[in-house]
Amino acid sequence: MDVERVYVLGAGAIGARMAVAALDAGWPVTLLLKSAESLRTFERSNGIEFDVAREQRIVRPDAEIAHSGTAPLGRLLIAVKAQQTRSALSSIRHRLSPSSRIVFLQNGMGVVEWVEDLLPPGATVVLGTTTEAVWRRGPFSLVHAARGETWFGPAPDRPGDPDSAQPLLNAPGLKAGWDPDIRERLWLKLAMNCAINPLTALLGCRNGVLAAADSAALLDPICREAEIVLTAEGIPYATPLVDQARALACETGANRSSMLQDVLTGRQTEIEHITGYLVDRAAQLGIPVPFNAFLLQAMRIRQASVADDPSA
Ligand SMILES: NC(=O)c1ccc[n+]([C@@H]2O[C@H](COP(=O)([O-])OP(=O)(O)OC[C@H]3O[C@@H](n4cnc5c(N)ncnc54)[C@H](OP(=O)(O)O)[C@@H]3O)[C@@H](O)[C@H]2O)c1
Repeated sequence: MDVERVYVLGAGAIGARMAVAALDAGWPVTLLLKSAESLRTFERSNGIEFDVAREQRIVRPDAEIAHSGTAPLGRLLIAVKAQQTRSALSSIRHRLSPSSRIVFLQNGMGVVEWVEDLLPPGATVVLGTTTEAVWRRGPFSLVHAARGETWFGPAPDRPGDPDSAQPLLNAPGLKAGWDPDIRERLWLKLAMNCAINPLTALLGCRNGVLAAADSAALLDPICREAEIVLTAEGIPYATPLVDQARALACETGANRSSMLQDVLTGRQTEIEHITGYLVDRAAQLGIPVPFNAFLLQAMRIRQASVADDPSA
C-alpha cells in the first residue's frame, strides 16, 4: 500500500475531520498550520479531539507551520475557507511540484481558477464537496454533528484521478465516492448555499426559519434564478430547487449556517465564492439574477459593517 504522507492545509472543522479519516485509513497525516502560535496550541493539546455519536476519540497527526516546512507536498488536502485559499496556498507554494496531488474540499466554486497561477503546471487537481457537518468546540476539538456524503472528482482542464483522493475514498466512517462529473454536485451544493447562507446571515436566524411557509416567498426567487443558471450550465436537477432548499432548511433546522456564524464572529464569509460566483456566471451568460445580486451586495455591506464595528 502507498503510505505517502497526506498534508492538510486548513486544520479547522472539515480539515481536521478529514485528517481523522485519513489516519483511520492508515495514512500518515501532517497538519499544515498557519502560525507558530497555532503549532504551540496544537502541541499543548492532546491531538484532535473528535466527538462522534457522544463518544470522544483522540487522534494525533503530526503538525508543522505551513510556510516554514520544506518537505515536498506530494498529497495535499486544502480545507481552508474559500476566501482564505490564496494566502494559504501562497504560503506553501515553494513545496508544490508538477507531481503534487491537490484536493480542494470547500464550499463555493471558482476557487481553482482564482488560484491557478499558484498551482504548478501539470499538478493533479481534484475537487470535493461534502455534506458532513462538523463544528469546532475549540482549536483541534471537533463535534461531528451529522454524517454526510463526500464526493470527489476531477477539476476542469486539469489531470485528476481517483488515486488523488484515495486516503479519503476508503476511509472507515466516511461515506465517500468518486464522481467523474463532480461539477453537477458542486453546482447543486452551490445553489443550496446561495439559497440558505446569505438569507440566514442577513436575517440572523437558524436554518429552520427558512422552512416555514412564509419564508417560501424569499427562497423562491433566489432558487428560480439559480435554476435558470444551472439549466444554462447544463446541470440537471430532479426537483425544484426551492423544494430542495426548504427540505434542507428543515433537515438542518437547528443549525446556524457557516455564513451566519462568520458574520456573528466578525469573520469574512464565503459570499464571494458562493453567491458571487453565481452572479458572475449569470452575467457571463447574460442571465439577470437581481435577487441574488441584491443578496450579494447586502452581504458585502453586512460583512463590512461587522468588520468596522463588531457590535453591529
Ligand atoms: N464545517 C462544516 O460542517 C462544513 C461542511 C461542509 C462544507 N464545509 C466547507 O469546508 C471548508 C472549511 O470549512 P470549516 O468549517 O472547516 O472552516 P474552519 O473551521 O474555519 O477551518 C478553516 C481552517 O483553515 C485555517 N487557515 C486559515 N488560513 C490558513 C492559512 N493561511 N494557513 C493554514 N491554515 C489556515 C483556519 O485557521 P484559523 O482558525 O487559525 O484561522 C482554520 O483552522 C469551507 O469551504 C466550508 O464552507 C464545512
